[in-house]
Amino acid sequence: MAEKGRTEMEVRPGGVALITISNPPVNALSIHVLYSLKDHYEEALRRNDVKAIVVTGKGGVFSGGLDINTFGAIQRNKAEQLKVDYVSIDVMTNTLEAAGKPSVAAINGPALGGGLEISMVCQARISIPTAQLGLPELQLGVIPAFGGTQRLPRLVGLTKALEMMLMSKPIKAEEAHQLALIDAIVSPNDLLNTACRWALDISESRRPWVHTLSRTDKLESPDEAREILKFARAQVQKQAANLRHPLDVIEEGIVSGPQAGLRKEAIAFQDLVFSDTCKSLVHVFFSQRATSKVPGITDLGLMPRKVSKVAIVGGGLMGSGIATALMLSNYPVVLKEVNDKFLDAGIDRIKANLQSRVRKGKMTKEIYEKTLSLLTGVVDYERFKDVDLVIEAVVENVKVKQQVFADLERYCPSHCVLATNTSTIDLDLIGEKTNSQDRIAGAHFFSPAHVMPLLEIVRSNHTSPQVVVDLLDVGKKIKKTPVVVGNCTGFAVNRMFSPYTSIALLLVDRGMDVYKIDQVCTEFGMPMGPFRLLDLVGFGVALASGMQYLENSPGSVDKSMLIPLMFEDKRTGEASQKGFYKYEGNRKAIPDPDIFKYVEKSRRMAGTVPDLELLKLDDKEIVEMVFFPVINEACQVLSEGIANKASDLDIASIFGMGFPPYRGGIVYWADSIGAKRIHARLSEWEMKHGQLFRPCSYLSERAAEGVPLSSTAKNNAKARM
Ligand SMILES: NC(=O)c1ccc[n+]([C@@H]2O[C@H](COP(=O)([O-])OP(=O)(O)OC[C@H]3O[C@@H](n4cnc5c(N)ncnc54)[C@H](O)[C@@H]3O)[C@@H](O)[C@H]2O)c1
Repeated sequence: MAEKGRTEMEVRPGGVALITISNPPVNALSIHVLYSLKDHYEEALRRNDVKAIVVTGKGGVFSGGLDINTFGAIQRNKAEQLKVDYVSIDVMTNTLEAAGKPSVAAINGPALGGGLEISMVCQARISIPTAQLGLPELQLGVIPAFGGTQRLPRLVGLTKALEMMLMSKPIKAEEAHQLALIDAIVSPNDLLNTACRWALDISESRRPWVHTLSRTDKLESPDEAREILKFARAQVQKQAANLRHPLDVIEEGIVSGPQAGLRKEAIAFQDLVFSDTCKSLVHVFFSQRATSKVPGITDLGLMPRKVSKVAIVGGGLMGSGIATALMLSNYPVVLKEVNDKFLDAGIDRIKANLQSRVRKGKMTKEIYEKTLSLLTGVVDYERFKDVDLVIEAVVENVKVKQQVFADLERYCPSHCVLATNTSTIDLDLIGEKTNSQDRIAGAHFFSPAHVMPLLEIVRSNHTSPQVVVDLLDVGKKIKKTPVVVGNCTGFAVNRMFSPYTSIALLLVDRGMDVYKIDQVCTEFGMPMGPFRLLDLVGFGVALASGMQYLENSPGSVDKSMLIPLMFEDKRTGEASQKGFYKYEGNRKAIPDPDIFKYVEKSRRMAGTVPDLELLKLDDKEIVEMVFFPVINEACQVLSEGIANKASDLDIASIFGMGFPPYRGGIVYWADSIGAKRIHARLSEWEMKHGQLFRPCSYLSERAAEGVPLSSTAKNNAKARM
């Protein structure tokens, strides 16, 4: 809560006031903490027994920055809202930095955002070796608000300060020391004593009294600064045109002086905090934390069981990625393939995944060897007798998976969790030939599995809560964001996004251009359009998934022949270097005029003629035609209780499909448009283009009642989960 937290103060022998920020778990800077900090500073300045001040944080964290609840308070115009200019200018600058007694920051852990900004008003900074320092505010759609845009460039130079702010990337203590952002690194045991000694040294003129805001020695000359800012503006435009940046504010400080810069910073923050981008990113922040709270599962008091060894069946694209993810978190992995040739290929893929980390400097050669030694390759089930978790990732074929699960039941210990990475197949069908339905669950990763952050945990009506708790724990240990969903064809993520490709195929059959659709979707903010995505997933998997939807809900997919025609000709997607695009040795997708012959044949087979009205649609309308059916499917998923809450689908869309986070996720974005408008457009398109656009009853009801789609109150009463 915004009201939470405080600072504590004790005066140590020798006359140093030790002010400790206390607001567990990350010592977030709530309004209370900030005003308490000011009060303690003023007390320290008044007291005759205090000569100097040391600021630190409680419990191994200096401060994680501004309390994100505070954003909500500002946006809702709450009475006790944060006055940024008051904190930045009156508190930080005129009280803390201008104090007549020196202060030193004792950085005992992460100092991020407002945390780093507090440390930068101090006359010196001492840290422990594991501390991290950064200004990651852009991740929440705002800029640093407590003077960070002015002080960081004055401490480390403009180029480095821009890198840290624009990339939202913290640096480690050692680098911060090299940059002179930190004055000394000491062991945790020596931290407070050293900081107190430095503070007294400054007060007694044995060390210089440095006033950060008055420094110019690290700043580039105005001409150089202008060039650097010009380059940075171009980069920002290219990479994330939607995100606002602090470049104008920094420039103001360099051109007109830091006081003007501080004023501009406060105005810019106050403006940005009300932006849709900031509101969306704050929603994403809280929604992500809420995914691990699953009613009826995580409120039962169950403890996760220890998973010491994991087996993976299938070392293809997904199996090798999943193995990599597990090994990177130190899980010993047994990888099973059908024969030595496929096993070697799977192991090579894992090696390549790890080697890429070595190349990027994220892993040393020694750690590479150690990580690889966690892997055991096998071609039978003998080594499965002591595993605690199996993740099956064989081909998307019901019969093959049923046989694998029957084998797993035979070879694995009875406590072992049996998970499948299937994209679409109903868990009840996969476990049909076993008596182990209670320990069968979905552990659905997204490609590439060692990179993509989402883990969709699927539970059927039979899956025990203990199994879900175990998978949530493994998910957390391998640093994935888990979303727990119910069982159905395609589960939450693939089902919700099946219209993304299905509608795109329909539009192409009716005259629209493949590459135009991909272009508008990427401009909307998707990492790839539907056709580039189909290339990545591979047409084999796409066709198998399509069959599942056709069998289980026949009206839900388009029957375009475009993919089967290309598949027949051995154009199977990126893996074959030819799909909707061609790939010449690297991953760059190049439009290929050869596909038009397939497009024309597919249109002939569908019996369609180019729809002139469709061809006149502008980019926004194309986006709506592709995404409103996705919203409609998300509504179905909610109404059936497949997802626990709308915000889980927001996270699933962002972390599983790359939906742009600055739009807040699929349902959040839908609510920004309004159910009424979405319903009206879908109804119109249903008349023209058929049942793929038919609005579901959940959407229709909410449109009629004017209720947000994220409001599931009514529906939850009906829902199974
Ligand atoms: N490709 C994707 O983007 C993606 C994403 C999420 C989930 N999935 C799902 O993951 C699963 C695997 O997909 P993939 O793309 O890795 O397929 P893939 O064809 O690359 O790999 C499948 C592997 O399973 C092996 N295999 C088959 N039967 C086996 C058995 N009895 N024992 C051991 N190994 C066996 C095959 O030899 C092959 O190497 C599928 O269910 C798919 O739907 C795929």
